[in-house]
Amino acid sequence: MPVHAIPLAELAHGLPPSFERARSWCALLEAGSILYFPRTPLPIPAPDLEFLLSRRQEASPLHKNIAYQPVHDALCGLEENQISEGESSRFRETMRRYSTAVASFLADFLLPYRERWQLDYASFRPFEERGRQLPMHKRNDLLHTDAFPTRPTHGARILRFFHNIHPSRTRDWVITEPFPQLVSRFAPHPLPLPRAEGAAARCFKALAELTGITSVLPGLKRTPYDAFMMRLNNAMKEDSEFQSHCPREEVRFAPGSSWMVYTDTVPHAVLAGQFALEQTLLVDAGAMVHSETAPVAVLERLTGAKVA
Ligand SMILES: [Fe+2]
Repeated sequence: MPVHAIPLAELAHGLPPSFERARSWCALLEAGSILYFPRTPLPIPAPDLEFLLSRRQEASPLHKNIAYQPVHDALCGLEENQISEGESSRFRETMRRYSTAVASFLADFLLPYRERWQLDYASFRPFEERGRQLPMHKRNDLLHTDAFPTRPTHGARILRFFHNIHPSRTRDWVITEPFPQLVSRFAPHPLPLPRAEGAAARCFKALAELTGITSVLPGLKRTPYDAFMMRLNNAMKEDSEFQSHCPREEVRFAPGSSWMVYTDTVPHAVLAGQFALEQTLLVDAGAMVHSETAPVAVLERLTGAKVA
């Protein structure tokens, strides 16, 4: 089941889950499930919610979202000429509270990962997703797996915790086949790849030639893994045949719900919805409870070479 619903009653009245319970939730995520809380375990304080829902950002549709960087306690993506200093501080405080609440909740809920992650950006997504005009590679409504063009993860997993804060509307996603099938589709077997240590770049060049996914060679800071994941993201969006004919499952997240998912391996698209919060965590691939499911392991099995 790609969506695993967790009623609040399962959270044992606010007590931390047992290690085994937490491990089972990690395993579900690693297997490609979306863990879904029909009612969020992290309600937003009413004044913060009111403040966020009053934001529109209509003047800057090219911004994907408004981001908060917990490490520097800093915001980016706000239109500075359209917001006062006081509002900007208010925004930062609101995002800081959300980010801190998610990190604190997940430290117990996903206990095996505790202290094995980096708290990445949190984001506020105030735009209506249906009908947004974005360049192809930035579109959210095309199926894709996540990869960051400017922040390579070097094999760390991209785990995202979302909250639909719209008072009445669902946030509508579509998902498709899991990562191993996806990679097989975009990188067919068998691959005539060298297996010697240090041959990763040659492996990925061969893979690029086979699949038509070009520019796979690592950049200055990217590992072959990062280069491949970025190109996979783009290749999926560019492939209209895949977008039209792959198996699709629709998922609607209720107003006031939360969910989390490894978006680097669960292909997803956002078809409709407005007003969501999200916190990203970069989880050490070595912290996986089933390390063989990590995308770095999948790609290393496929290529026979070290990729990150
Ligand atoms: Fe995404």
